[in-house]
Amino acid sequence: MIKTAFTCNALRLRHFFRFLWVWVNTCKSGKLTQLCKEETSQFFGISPDSVFLFGSARMGLYSLLMSEKKEGRDEVIVAGYTCVVVTNAIKYADMKAVYIDVEEENLNIDPALLREAISDKTSAIIFTHNYGITCEYIVDFKKEFPEILIIEDAAHTFGSVTKDGQLAGTLGDASFFSMEYSKPITSGMGGIIIVNEAGLRGRLESCYEGLPYYPKMTRLRILASLKIHLFSSSRYNAFLKRWMAGFLYVTGLLYKSPAMELQGEMPGHYPVKLSPYFAYLAYLQIREIGAINEKKDRLCQSYFNTLKDIPGIKQYYSSDYNFVRYPVLFERNITGEKILAIKDDLKRSGIVPGEWFNDVVHPKGSYRYCYIDGSCPVGESVTGRMINFPVTVHKQLNQRDLNRIRQIFVKHLAE
Ligand SMILES: Cc1ncc(COP(=O)(O)O)c(C=O)c1O
Repeated sequence: MIKTAFTCNALRLRHFFRFLWVWVNTCKSGKLTQLCKEETSQFFGISPDSVFLFGSARMGLYSLLMSEKKEGRDEVIVAGYTCVVVTNAIKYADMKAVYIDVEEENLNIDPALLREAISDKTSAIIFTHNYGITCEYIVDFKKEFPEILIIEDAAHTFGSVTKDGQLAGTLGDASFFSMEYSKPITSGMGGIIIVNEAGLRGRLESCYEGLPYYPKMTRLRILASLKIHLFSSSRYNAFLKRWMAGFLYVTGLLYKSPAMELQGEMPGHYPVKLSPYFAYLAYLQIREIGAINEKKDRLCQSYFNTLKDIPGIKQYYSSDYNFVRYPVLFERNITGEKILAIKDDLKRSGIVPGEWFNDVVHPKGSYRYCYIDGSCPVGESVTGRMINFPVTVHKQLNQRDLNRIRQIFVKHLAE
């Protein structure tokens, strides 16, 4: 029944086999890391020295916060619509998270509320480009508050641009991109950090240099799990996912973020560097990023056209955005029962919609570090009204599926 999957959005089997070939033939590992850094720097038009490769984006964020810690400034501002590993990184750095509500218009931090919340305790602001929707006003804040570290959370994109054509990731003092299974490019787990500010680059370099890699067994588990995500990415193999994941679970080879981490405890091997072979896997996708993003954009356009004119929903399509998933928000007047009925009908048709973010600190049930209930009413409301569709290079939905999606929405919202 699982036809839609949200993993390995850019990774193809040929990348994976090439990566295995290089692994078996043991290329010089320093060279592999350099390839990834150079390809990234070319794409963003920056120096390779500005690029740091971590075991995950959250570890990169943690290291940035640790490199920039200042006496008396211990607050980090973050959108009240984010992922638990982001707020946990703030916790591990022994700083406080301050949540600012998002705007329904773009699902990103509300600039007016943000301005009111900035104080002399603010150490850093994390601007998230949620779903790949570019956060537009980062450069203004950077100019206005030079003493505050401006970080872009670009975990959901690899190619979104602002209205005046600047790439997400190049706007703040630093930015981070995730390469976890479900992100625009993937190396299983992994994070790219870009540092646009020279002083910070030096400070990050000194904590980065001495870091270890993930232990061998963890790398093996990440790789085995990645293989399963990849094989089940197309609609024809999706049914295999549950069986293959079950096998890995039983053999202890399934990789998942540790449960304790979702509850706010710092896991072992945190932070680590990205090992060179995984960097090579990322490189293979980044060097084809133009073609990958065009293909994904065509899919987003067809979602937009499929759902166009249907009352009661909001879409966010723009060709400026490189979406990680395609978000569709139900308007406030659509009841929870109707939303549930639409989800059920979609599932019955084999189209399982995604549920990001299902809490202001996603996923529901995880540790809401410093969050005060009711403090981000827009974020809280959006979590119950959001569904997502996959944005991937793999064949998952065809025209019949798209027609079916439209019929389901029309049946519940327009009739
Ligand atoms: C908005 C956002 N930021 C950061 C991250 C963290 O990325 P990583 O899993 O690479 O640590 C995620 C992860 O899922 C995310 O959704």
